[in-house]
Amino acid sequence: MSTPVLYEASHDFDIAWVRKQFPSLQLQVNGQPAAFLDGPAGTQVPRQVMDAVQKYFLEANANTYGAFLTSRRTNEVIAAARAAMADLFHCAPDEVVFGQNMTTITLGLSRAIARELQPGDEILLTTLDHDANFSPWAALAEKGVVIRKVDIRESDCTLDLDDLKSKLNEKTKLVAVGYASNAVGSINPVAEIIKIAHAARALCFIDAVHYAPHGPIDVKALDCDFLVCSPYKFFGPHMGTLYGKKHLLEKFTPYKVRPATDTVPERWETGTQVQELIPGILAAVEYIAELGRRCDPSVKGRREALLAAYRSSVAYERALVTRLIEGLLAVPGLRFFGITDPKRFEERCSTVAFRLAKGTPTAAAKFLGDRGIFSWDGNFYALNLAERLGVEQHGGVLRVGLVHYNTADEVDRLLAALREFASL
Ligand SMILES: Cc1ncc(COP(=O)(O)O)c(C=O)c1O
Repeated sequence: MSTPVLYEASHDFDIAWVRKQFPSLQLQVNGQPAAFLDGPAGTQVPRQVMDAVQKYFLEANANTYGAFLTSRRTNEVIAAARAAMADLFHCAPDEVVFGQNMTTITLGLSRAIARELQPGDEILLTTLDHDANFSPWAALAEKGVVIRKVDIRESDCTLDLDDLKSKLNEKTKLVAVGYASNAVGSINPVAEIIKIAHAARALCFIDAVHYAPHGPIDVKALDCDFLVCSPYKFFGPHMGTLYGKKHLLEKFTPYKVRPATDTVPERWETGTQVQELIPGILAAVEYIAELGRRCDPSVKGRREALLAAYRSSVAYERALVTRLIEGLLAVPGLRFFGITDPKRFEERCSTVAFRLAKGTPTAAAKFLGDRGIFSWDGNFYALNLAERLGVEQHGGVLRVGLVHYNTADEVDRLLAALREFASL
């Protein structure tokens, strides 16, 4: 593990350096090193993020827009974090909104958009999505908005685009779709979906919470109207962020208190933010950029560095997930949900879901947890999907998520433990 591993001709991915940045990866459980395969529910954070939060408390802790030093520093760090997220999204800083988490942001935005909707207007949602990209929109049925749900192809747990097209019509006002599934790892063809939605004059809202640690986001190229992701899934603190096209952040009216500013983007940031965590978002983006500069020293500027980091980590994660899926498919009686053909791995990220022939997902997660291997069992709020796959009544699935700090050793340990569990 000490020498850099070459995964692509021009990109070094130095896993030893990566792991050194994450102090919590040193945790031991029952004498075994912890294997954090729980990334889809939240990743570990690099030292830079912890330091940034502590520095804020030491040197800048205040509310915004006061006439004194710490308040000015708070304004500055929020502006710097907005600029960093703008580089991550590829947008302008005033198109970046901070919030408590994706769910809270989406509940606020959906209610604001609802102000403009009429009974009979339609919204298109999907079976594949996390419930945070379903229920906030589905609640608008109270106003007479018609909710339609796009199905999946059960054989590989991907979105059925024919079904999507057939459910879109001139009454559709919004299509809300995930970039990648937090349960089964499928990556949706969002660029194509956005084009289809726009051709029908519908807005498109993308939930990129699960995608953000696994691939680069380019809202400009996508031309999406809104996109959300949560920094705690990409090595940052527990918060949410929203990209919105500026004219839409101006057009829709948020529910807000009167003295709060009405300027974009702050009009969407209800109440006092978790200011101490905002420097952590900046540090998380800076960490990814630093990784990118190490992978490709020729990059210029932060956006290019971010893209270089993703290029290398996508290749690294691809190798890991290939090893993982090959091993899982060899476990007797294992039922796998999602894409298994390596030729199609561009359509998936390194999150996998499965059930074992014997024992519940909870029992398997506990067995693994006792051996220091952290995984998740259940539906992970992808409730429609768990119901559609017929596993909701049976404890859901076991989910393993690999991110760029995981290793082939951890994959092998997981596979050995699963084989042991399956043979009990
Ligand atoms: C795909 C997806 N969307 C939305 C959410 C909700 O995000 P938050 O916890 O920031 O509300 C999650 C959380 O797991 C998720 O995985």
